Amino acid sequence: METALTNKTIVLGVTGSIAAYKAADIASRLTKAGAKVNVVMTEAATRFISPLALRSITGRAVATDMFDLESQYTIEHISLAEAADVVVVAPATASLIARAAAGISDDMLTLTLLATKAPIILAPAMNVNMFENSVTQENLAKLKARGFIIVDPAHGRLASGRVGKGRLADIDQIMGAIQQVLAKSGDLAGKKIVVTAGGTREPIDPVRHIGNPSSGKMGYAIAQAARDRGAKVTLITAPASLLPPPGMAVMPVKTALEMKQAVTKAVKGADALIMAAAVADYQPKSVARAKIKKDALALTLELVRTPDILAEAKGKFLKVGFAAESEDIVANAKKKLKNKQLDIIVANDITDKKSGFGVDTNKVTLIDKKGKVEPLPLLSKREVADKILDKLLVFLPH
Ligand code: C5P
Repeated sequence: METALTNKTIVLGVTGSIAAYKAADIASRLTKAGAKVNVVMTEAATRFISPLALRSITGRAVATDMFDLESQYTIEHISLAEAADVVVVAPATASLIARAAAGISDDMLTLTLLATKAPIILAPAMNVNMFENSVTQENLAKLKARGFIIVDPAHGRLASGRVGKGRLADIDQIMGAIQQVLAKSGDLAGKKIVVTAGGTREPIDPVRHIGNPSSGKMGYAIAQAARDRGAKVTLITAPASLLPPPGMAVMPVKTALEMKQAVTKAVKGADALIMAAAVADYQPKSVARAKIKKDALALTLELVRTPDILAEAKGKFLKVGFAAESEDIVANAKKKLKNKQLDIIVANDITDKKSGFGVDTNKVTLIDKKGKVEPLPLLSKREVADKILDKLLVFLPH
């Protein structure tokens, strides 16, 4: 699977914080995603985690000492800095932040920070007092003004036993920042894309609703793929079983009506609207204020149509819809494409168990407004997401 990280060269700087062991997780995730990870450690970092561990995880040399005659990096000591697509320091101590702000280059890591032209991301981790100290804050402000990207530390229990801001940010946040930086050169860079996902819930009374089994996986995969290709993404999500992905604006909604309002707001200035959400077609005419008692043997609910969000969305943006079909897939999807005035429709066969609701794979046919019909094999939802975006690119004005 191609991601923003595939074949990218990343310098991962590690400094002497108790959170240094978390660098192993970051190195592992980056390596698994196909990046070449060159770890650079400060002397203090090597007291917390062994260079051998990071070397084993990345399968690449780990730089520690500027003057190590055995190191392949010593002779051309700025080669690491030059080869980097991005430099990430996680965790970054107060000392590293201070030295970077002052332009000091007294070890391999600070030297790399000074010599690189690549974007630099710092994820600070330290005691709360050290973090809040005005010197550290001034240094961070200086670095931010120079274009450094700071992934703010989290609030929580610190190694000192105190509770406050200073814990290394969540690894997902750090990964999201790296992906976002690398995606800036992607083929959707500068485009604004709105994606809907999940299944709406239409309340019957305070404790019951009409829903559907949408997991949100297809919509989330599209939002993540678009983010990784450089788009500015807004994900409007009805209830789904997934965590909000980093690196995008996330608008949670429950009902079809709420989704319509969110879409109307988000599509202003957008280049595309991709409606992957399973929107309820009907909602109860009225919502009971109190829990409905089960005294009666039968209960009739009066339902009314929800607005067709996609058909009613008007603007200059491209429109992509989904059609979950169980028969005459292509013919029915073509009808929807026309009726809702779409640019692309993604038709899927919901009778296939490996396709559609809940699973990680999907088998779809892409149909566009020019009448081109492209059946795809069974793919992961992420692969399907990239295929949809490839097609979208064809219709996006350059
Ligand atoms: O007409 P049908 O519900 O099959 O169309 C599916 C497409 O329309 C999906 O992209 C879905 O997100 C969207 N839709 C909508 N508003 C509705 C129902 C469906 O935007 N009320």
